[in-house]
Amino acid sequence: MSEQDTWESRYSVPEFIFGREPNYFLQSCRELLPASGKALAIADGEGRNGVWLAEQGLSVVCLDFSESAQRKATSLAKERGVKIDLVRADIHSWSYPPEAFDVVIDIFTQFSSPTERLKKWQGVHNTLKPGGLFILQGYTPRQLQFNTGGPKKIENLYTRQMLEEAFRDFHDVRIVEEEREMREGPAHSGMSAVIGLTARR
Ligand SMILES: C[S@@+](CC[C@H](N)C(=O)[O-])C[C@H]1O[C@@H](n2cnc3c(N)ncnc32)[C@H](O)[C@@H]1O
Repeated sequence: MSEQDTWESRYSVPEFIFGREPNYFLQSCRELLPASGKALAIADGEGRNGVWLAEQGLSVVCLDFSESAQRKATSLAKERGVKIDLVRADIHSWSYPPEAFDVVIDIFTQFSSPTERLKKWQGVHNTLKPGGLFILQGYTPRQLQFNTGGPKKIENLYTRQMLEEAFRDFHDVRIVEEEREMREGPAHSGMSAVIGLTARR
């Protein structure tokens, strides 16, 4: 089964596998968001994070390759009374438009191999406007001990050193590592080892 078919099959259940509420770290960054502007949600899945950004007054593009996830995102946006723009594409080959977004979010997208990850983060660099805000959340290698979600390959997990290196030319870099109880749908549930980053291009 291809990677895309695997995701389609995971999403082919009526419930939202990552929940309907935004990621806790994204929510904690509310004060940093501009009152208006354009946001890109990378691999946004069922739309919980993109819809929340739209509720904060941003004009949001939700990028993902899963049709069934995007159907759920459409219904969540309708339910919440906001508009989102859906783009169905592979995040590793999408043409990230230059200096187009005020905010980019990258929440739990650790399916990327190390080479693909570099391409994805190059896309983030290119598509953020100067001064634009980047928000990231992922799992650290300690997550392998918890087995409560996320990839099983150590090279896909994030370390502080990896993020410091990848975003060394950004400003106001803030990295938070924590172990905490997660309740983000059945797919991300239980004690988890996570890392969050905020930075400005
Ligand atoms: C772990 S889920 C996270 C979804 C969302 N960011 C969230 O936090 O609820 C990963 C998402 O990446 C999408 N995805 C995986 N590989 C992709 C690719 N190469 N291009 C686009 N989307 C991809 C899947 O369809 C899925 O929605």
